Amino acid sequence: MLKKGTINKLFAFAVAGLVLVACKKDENHRGWQYMPDMYDGPALEAYSPTDLFSDSTSARKPVEGTIPRGFMSYTDYGADAAGYDSARMHLEMPSSIMADETTMAEAKELYTIFCSHCHGDKGAGQGVLVKNEKFLGVPSYADRDINYGTIFHVVTYGKGVMGSHASQVTPEERWKLALYVMKLKEDLTAPAEEQSSEEAEETTES
Ligand code: HEC
Repeated sequence: MLKKGTINKLFAFAVAGLVLVACKKDENHRGWQYMPDMYDGPALEAYSPTDLFSDSTSARKPVEGTIPRGFMSYTDYGADAAGYDSARMHLEMPSSIMADETTMAEAKELYTIFCSHCHGDKGAGQGVLVKNEKFLGVPSYADRDINYGTIFHVVTYGKGVMGSHASQVTPEERWKLALYVMKLKEDLTAPAEEQSSEEAEETTES
């Protein structure tokens, strides 16, 4: 019959033995791995077929219906004339976009970068490309029946010879541009009695 003290000693020896066995001299030895899958992920070559999944790809596609962060769905309005009309009637400025000073300053900057070379700083259709006859047919905003919805639509899809700017400006930026374009339109139409919009552009633009 073993005494309790002896059992304890044997147990202590066993534990010490295990600890010592676990320490190998070889520094390159990783030690024992009990669940190797957890430590060593499968080494996959990008874009090379694997047998990991049945379709031989190594990555999964996002679940159907997944939308990128910050994405705004715009599928209700097609790129055609019907989509344009529908945008005029139903597409409304989100309440999160406020026409405050900061927003208007940002909108002006966006407009100067992406629009003014065709439309002109005042929106009268006299941008530098038009003046140099590089691009023609740019209207004055004063002559177009536009609202926030149509502007968003036109910047998204383009219209006539104006191309889509969807890859340049985010939906949020398009709304800011819409605010700015409508402000330009107001400024253009307000003094219409005294000057034609084109003259207004000539005298105020430098
Ligand atoms: C390369 C020149 C060019 C650039 C850049 C450009 N536009 Fe245009 N834009 C045009 C032309 C040309 C038209 C007339 C299209 C038509 O009705 O056939 C037009 C038309 C418009 C209209 C009136 C469309 C309507 O509903 O009648 C708006 C609003 C407009 N542009 C806004 C913008 C904004 C905002 C930007 C900047 C993000 C911009 N455009 C950039 C050339 C340009």
